Amino acid sequence: MREVREIEVDGDSMHVLVCSEPERPDKPSLWPSLGEYPIYDPHLYATMTTDEERNKRFRSALGQLAPGKHVVDIGTGQDLLWARESVQAGARQVTAIEVVDDAFRQAAVNLPSYDVQDRVTLLLGESTSLEFAPKADVCVAEIIGSLASAEGAAAVLTDARRRHLAPDGMVVPHRAVTQAAAGCLADILGEQHVAFAAESIPYLQSIFNWNTAPFDVRLRVENASPAALVSDSAVIESLDFNGTLHTAQETTTRLTVQRPGRIDGVLTWLQLWCLPDEDPLDALRMETNWAAIYFPLFEAPVPVEPGDSLNLTFGSTLSADGVHPDYQLSATLRTAGGHAHQGSLESPHRGGPFRAQPAYRFLFPAA
Ligand SMILES: C[S@@+](CC[C@H](N)C(=O)[O-])C[C@H]1O[C@@H](n2cnc3c(N)ncnc32)[C@H](O)[C@@H]1O
Repeated sequence: MREVREIEVDGDSMHVLVCSEPERPDKPSLWPSLGEYPIYDPHLYATMTTDEERNKRFRSALGQLAPGKHVVDIGTGQDLLWARESVQAGARQVTAIEVVDDAFRQAAVNLPSYDVQDRVTLLLGESTSLEFAPKADVCVAEIIGSLASAEGAAAVLTDARRRHLAPDGMVVPHRAVTQAAAGCLADILGEQHVAFAAESIPYLQSIFNWNTAPFDVRLRVENASPAALVSDSAVIESLDFNGTLHTAQETTTRLTVQRPGRIDGVLTWLQLWCLPDEDPLDALRMETNWAAIYFPLFEAPVPVEPGDSLNLTFGSTLSADGVHPDYQLSATLRTAGGHAHQGSLESPHRGGPFRAQPAYRFLFPAA
């Protein structure tokens, strides 16, 4: 069942389409993208703290890099996970930084119970505004989004390498990329309705209230199946945390349709390496708290056949806060008979248009 729900945003009411059936762990569901907003709560931290597919990679990298070293943990969260793992791995000293007030306070309450106090210094604030000495040898920062750069990793780690890390210091994770493939949102959601999961509505409201107005939030698809995609995939952004790291980039790629179907946008997902030589975490194919992000591009689904092509340009530029990226997508879909279909989307970190695309007008019916 799908229902129109009225919610309050900054004193005004608005409508949102909600899936009234409870989420099922094996079925896709639609959420707003979460990680790039300061709305973390104990539930979100718990989903990360228990994400073993993710955690084993960070643990193994810290096991190699942290012994005897000074580690800075940027975005330590309420559970101080990587600060604790660093101590466990034999770090000499850890500087743990958290910007969200409630998470910092909870981390301060939790710290004594972990018995690592003599080696961990907890700081409140944004790493880009804080100073500490001496410089660290290793920087661990799980500020990676479902779309790799969305949480500001490029700007934050560029700053950390310049100001917080010794010249030969190392960053964990090592590398992240975002992959994209074409599909149709209704097909990606399968039997589930095109509507937000009921459980996601309080988060949607928090994001809109933080922004003081609704906007076309990025769409997070949990448990998306690769089988629902109709094209091959390509890397649309690449973040080399121990190499050349760009805070703005533009990539043009050509996706080729592999099977008959329809396309109204692209699905993007994270691949992550904590160490250079390991098999990457693939958020589309592995069970992890990261999900896929769907970007609507076309007014209506376009039928496609194998061999049709989608030329996709994906740009990211820093938003007004100097940390989180805005994204710009444009695409040309060429189908049989030489038909060309144009599509585009502006996806700013916050603000920007509301109900600009049919997909958003459907999800947020007029009040
Ligand atoms: C994805 S969570 C990761 C939490 C924890 N480190 C983990 O891996 O389970 C990212 C955390 O980083 C914090 N954060 C993001 N950017 C930050 C920055 N520049 N300085 C300090 N904290 C930051 C967020 O508030 C959030 O608590």
